[in-house]
Amino acid sequence: MRVLITGGSGLFGSKLAEVLAESDYHVYSGYLEHVPTHGEKIRIDITDEGNVERVFNRVRPDVVVHAAAFTNVDKCELEREIAYKVNVIGTRYVVNNARKYSSFLVYVSTDYVFDGSKGLYREKDEPNPVNYYGYTKLMGEYEVINNLSEYCIVRPSVIYGSTPASGKTNFVLWVIDKLSGGERIKIVVDQWISPTLNTNLSVMVKEVIERKLSGIFHLSGATRISRFDFVKAIAKVFDLEVELVIPISMDQLSWVAKRPRDSSLDVSKAMKVLRNKPLDVEASLNILKGELSPINY
Ligand SMILES: NC(=O)c1ccc[n+]([C@@H]2O[C@H](COP(=O)([O-])OP(=O)(O)OC[C@H]3O[C@@H](n4cnc5c(N)ncnc54)[C@H](OP(=O)(O)O)[C@@H]3O)[C@@H](O)[C@H]2O)c1
Repeated sequence: MRVLITGGSGLFGSKLAEVLAESDYHVYSGYLEHVPTHGEKIRIDITDEGNVERVFNRVRPDVVVHAAAFTNVDKCELEREIAYKVNVIGTRYVVNNARKYSSFLVYVSTDYVFDGSKGLYREKDEPNPVNYYGYTKLMGEYEVINNLSEYCIVRPSVIYGSTPASGKTNFVLWVIDKLSGGERIKIVVDQWISPTLNTNLSVMVKEVIERKLSGIFHLSGATRISRFDFVKAIAKVFDLEVELVIPISMDQLSWVAKRPRDSSLDVSKAMKVLRNKPLDVEASLNILKGELSPINY
């Protein structure tokens, strides 16, 4: 099976490429600036319509996992034109070609399509983004829904993994780095998420591809947890000093973009349908520890 991953150099896409490449897949890892680590590397700029069509014509993918996005939430708020171009128009070009080349599309969306007033969102809950990033990702969902008959939209929440990707670290690696260096960190107690290990997400998306599951799936970790408690869990698993973690509230932070207070996801649909289930925080962090151990521990 030929699988094209847009965002193949990213935190999720790079792990998915690694997981798929271990099985009998021909993986094409799309990237813009950072050369991917796994799969056949293919440069693609999703904002360039002609370029997207040429890549599809060359690859002729059976499946496209569209994970490329402008993911910096604060920058999306400030650079709205670019955010719209990448997350909405770029998605439109990918969707149009998926239709033209009869490729099954998996679109990676986000928990940030929800406003965070309720938490534990189900697939049928009404999206209502509170920032521009969430708005563009939701518009991306509509591009998919309105133009394809067969697709899967997956929504993770706060992805983390063992390797920096796309030129940046991720939340868990940042926490480990700070605490192991003896630095104090301020973490919010009043924001709730469903942290998602990229390996767990990749295995679930692999199953989605294999079974051509369609519709919307919340594919995050199985635990609703505050940022603060998540950091405490990280400290426990990695044997780091929890006293270095200082509790603060969201209103003490000067984020450019508003954040949803509780964007945690209800994963009961995935728990019921998938053989590869969303994992809880402890299991995920222990897998991460195993992935890091040959290098750092
Ligand atoms: N990270 C999270 O916590 C999180 C949570 C929920 C949902 N999501 C969603 O999950 C997906 C993957 O996120 P991630 O964290 O893995 O992303 P990431 O690490 O920030 O990587 C973004 C990817 O998009 C590519 N990209 C950006 N602009 C592009 C363009 N114009 N054309 C082609 N490729 C472009 C980047 O390529 P280069 O690196 O080569 O420039 C990179 O591969 C995204 O759709 C995101 O919205 C992420």
